[in-house]
Amino acid sequence: MKETITSEILLELASKYGTPLYVYNTEKIKGQYQSLINAFSGLPVRFFYASKALTNIHILKFIHSLGASIDCSSINELKLARYAGVPADKILYTSNSIHFSEIEEAQREGVSINIDSLSNLEKFGEKFGHSSPVGIRLRPNVMAGGNLKISTGHDKSKFGIPVDKLEEILNVVQKYKMHITVLHIHTGSEISDVSMFMKAVNVMLGITQYFPELQCLDLGGGFKVPYKENDVQTDIALLATEVKQSIADLKKRQGRNFEVWFEPGKYMVSEAGSLLAKVNVLKETTAATFAGLDTGFNHLIRPMFYGSYHQIDNISNPTGAKKKYAVVGNICETDTFAWDRDISEIREEDILVFRNAGAYGFEMASNFNSRFRPAEVMIFDGKDELIRRRDTLDDLLRNQLVTT
Ligand code: LLP
Repeated sequence: MKETITSEILLELASKYGTPLYVYNTEKIKGQYQSLINAFSGLPVRFFYASKALTNIHILKFIHSLGASIDCSSINELKLARYAGVPADKILYTSNSIHFSEIEEAQREGVSINIDSLSNLEKFGEKFGHSSPVGIRLRPNVMAGGNLKISTGHDKSKFGIPVDKLEEILNVVQKYKMHITVLHIHTGSEISDVSMFMKAVNVMLGITQYFPELQCLDLGGGFKVPYKENDVQTDIALLATEVKQSIADLKKRQGRNFEVWFEPGKYMVSEAGSLLAKVNVLKETTAATFAGLDTGFNHLIRPMFYGSYHQIDNISNPTGAKKKYAVVGNICETDTFAWDRDISEIREEDILVFRNAGAYGFEMASNFNSRFRPAEVMIFDGKDELIRRRDTLDDLLRNQLVTT
C-alpha cells in the first residue's frame, strides 16, 4: 500500500463520488503513527489522537486499531469515540471552558479527564476529590505555535490554569485530598521550533515535585507538518531526544518514572487528506485569472481563517504550462484559497486537489450558503470506501420545525 494516492486514482474517485470530496489515505495515517512510535521508542509513551482534527468514526476506528488512544475536547467527541468502539480507558477528555455537568458526564463514562479551570477543579474536588484521580491542564505562559489563533499556552490565552496560580491549585488539591495523576500542557498548533516546545515542557517539569501522585506528563499536540516542498516541520527525532533527556534528568532528580503522553492531531491526519473540487468557471480580469470552484470556505476554512497555505494541483492537466491563478470558492463572500498561485493551466471542469486537507478540513466545514457538506471517502487496504455521504436537502431541513 502507498502513502500517496496517484492523480489517476483521485480522478477516478472524483468521477465515482462527485465533487467536492474529501479523501483520506489510511496508509499515510499509519505511517505517521509508526514514525511517532519509532521516534519515542524506549520511553513509556502513549499517543492520544486529537480527534478534533477529524472525527469521522471510521477514522477513529482505524486509528484505534493502530494501537492509539483518543483525545477528546467535547463530550460529543467522547461519545463518538465510544461509538467507534474505543474503550473508556483509552480515552482522554481535555476540557476547556465547559460546564461542570459535562465533566460529571465524562466522569460517569470512566475516561481520563484533564481539568482546565480552578473553579472546575474545585467542583471536581468537592464531588469526587478523594475517590477519583484527575489531571490538570496548565497554561505554561509560553508563546508557541503557527499563528496567534492557534497559540494556546501564552499569557493571554484562555486555555489551562496559569502556572502562576500554582499556590491556588495546591490549596484546592490539599483541601479535597485530590489525586493529581496527570499534568497537561498544549502550547499551540504547528510548533516547528523544538526549543519552544521544550520551553513549555520544562515549565511543567519544573513543578512536578509538588504533585507526589503524578504518573503521567501529557505534553499535548502541535507538531508541524510540511504544507509545501521544503516547508519547515517539527523535527520529531530531535523532539524525542530532548524529551527523553528531560525525563531522564527528572528521574535523576526525583527518582520517579513518568509515562509521557502526546495528543497529535494534524501530525496524524493532515497529509493523509485531500479535498477534490471541480472548476466551475474561469474569469479573466485585470487583477487576476480567477478559477471559481464548486467548493468554498464552507468546506475548507483554513486559508481564510488562518491564512494557511494549501498546495493546489490541477490533476486533470498535470503537465500543462504553469500559469498564475486566483483560486476562489463559490460562497457569496470573499473566499480566496490562493492568490497569484502557479498552477498547471486550468480549464473549466478540471479537477483540482487541495493537499494536507485531512486535519481541520471537513471537521470545520459548515452548511453556509445552504450548501451541502462534501462526502468523505477513506482508502483502506487499497480500496475506496464511502464513509460519509454528501449532505442532501433533508439534512438542511432535518432540525427545522415545520409550522402549519
Ligand atoms: N490537544 C489539545 C488540547 C488541543 O487543543 C489540540 C488542538 C491538540 C491536542 C491537537 O493539536 P494539533 O496536533 O492538531 O496541532 N483548527 C486549527 C488548529 C486548532 C488546534 C486546536 N487544538 C487549524 O486548522 O490550524
